[in-house]
Amino acid sequence: MIAILDFGSQYTKLIARKIREFNIYCEVLPHSSTAEDLRKFKAEGVILSGGPRSTFEKNAPTCDEKIFDLGVPVLGICYGMQLMTKLCGGEVKQGKSQEYGPANLYIDSNFDLFKGLWLEMSIWMSHGDSVVRMPEGFQRIGHTDSCDIAAMSDTKRNLYGVQFHPEVSHTPKGKEMLHNFIFSACKCKENWTSESFIKSSILDINNRVKNERVLCALSGGVDSTTVAALLKKAIGNRLTCMFIDQGYMRKDEGKRIKKVFEEDYNINLIYIDASERFINKLKGISDPEEKRKKIGEEFIRVFEEESKKLSGEFKFLAQGTLYPDVIESAVGDVSETAVTIKSHHNVGGLPEDIDFEIIEPLRMLFKDEVRKVGIELGLPEELVHRHPFPGPGLAIRILGETDREKVQTLQDADWIIMDEIKKAGLYRKLWQVFGVLLPIKTVGVQGDQRTYSNVLAIRAVNSDDAMTANWAHLPYEILDKISARVINEVSNINRVVYDISSKPPSTIEWE
Ligand code: XMP
Repeated sequence: MIAILDFGSQYTKLIARKIREFNIYCEVLPHSSTAEDLRKFKAEGVILSGGPRSTFEKNAPTCDEKIFDLGVPVLGICYGMQLMTKLCGGEVKQGKSQEYGPANLYIDSNFDLFKGLWLEMSIWMSHGDSVVRMPEGFQRIGHTDSCDIAAMSDTKRNLYGVQFHPEVSHTPKGKEMLHNFIFSACKCKENWTSESFIKSSILDINNRVKNERVLCALSGGVDSTTVAALLKKAIGNRLTCMFIDQGYMRKDEGKRIKKVFEEDYNINLIYIDASERFINKLKGISDPEEKRKKIGEEFIRVFEEESKKLSGEFKFLAQGTLYPDVIESAVGDVSETAVTIKSHHNVGGLPEDIDFEIIEPLRMLFKDEVRKVGIELGLPEELVHRHPFPGPGLAIRILGETDREKVQTLQDADWIIMDEIKKAGLYRKLWQVFGVLLPIKTVGVQGDQRTYSNVLAIRAVNSDDAMTANWAHLPYEILDKISARVINEVSNINRVVYDISSKPPSTIEWE
């Protein structure tokens, strides 16, 4: 495995994702991990991430110097390169200003790290300080117009440093460079596949669960469904799934969940129709935050009540936690290093003091890896590549107050949007597409009749991670079809508009 020591860069997760894409297992570890820790982990290579601090700051994060003597290759990226320089006896100069953005890297030696690459490549810089004297044994292997030592290596000790960020898409050849580090320097062998993950997870689950029973809280999305499919394979009928229908699901979603779980997978399913409770709870409430909070609270209450009925029966509760959440909550260790922490939207949320032991079989996986595992477990493509759907569901896509009639109107319109998008082969190309029911009425004319009815907005975005998103340029013909069908087929909508805002400054959801 490859160990990535985290110095708080916003890109650390991206390094991990890039390496996993090579079918190589890697973990993000606190920068305080010692050489001994890394030896125990059997790390075949170490990456020191970038970070927002300067090595000149008081209490700047550092690492165990013995890591450079472990005999495994080490790559320092940005802050990691500067730290490597300092700890190995070179010199770093404090920058007066930041260099941030694209630059051209001139490669001085296209062996090792830059093997097979052109002598000039575009890179992404984001730094203040720079290396001005390399430690003994190092040679310069790349420079830019403004940074004399932009890449360096000591091939004898297998130590490498780059001032730029190979992990971001703005360094187009960065992937090849990381590939060289992983396969030529670290000599890793590709063995991290969905198949190997499933095999080892089944062993782990059985070791932990033994003869006990597991309850799995389903959200209907790919993560919890994959957890359920994996558990079913590991422990068979000792798995029971619980689904709470809060009444703001998509059209026929409940039926689909029942079919997949009960019929296709033969999994015990407790289906709780709590829609009445949720819809009543939201009566008269139009503030988005209040709506979200009320749904979250009610979810916890329903879960508590229902799980109490089962208490004693189940020792474990399974959840679909993924690796990005694990890295983020491990921020405790690197908190002084990390500058911003993304605030999560929690899927439903669960009570804090529950009587279960938590089991999280996907906690070391990224989303794209979960999808591959889902496919390997035989889950339907349609489910595995389903767009993200927010925990509060359609409640935050019906702006303002909600009621049953509005839910049905939006369900019908949303169904048409999905149908046309899928028919046009666009579903997999978009991050999300959905309808939003606006809290205004406008005048229209249908037949000879004047109408005064609701407006639907279509929202479609492209994104890699939902942190930023661009509005999707859907073809006019598709927009035309959706608009015509929605107005004709959904009785109380007489106007359709298209959202052309990106995130930031807008968000993906409207509430
Ligand atoms: P925003 O609207 O913040 O959404 O740009 C970013 C992504 O998160 C999804 N989202 C949620 N997911 N529970 C969830 O599980 C929530 O409360 C929630 N709110 C937003 C949204 O659909 C988008 O993919």
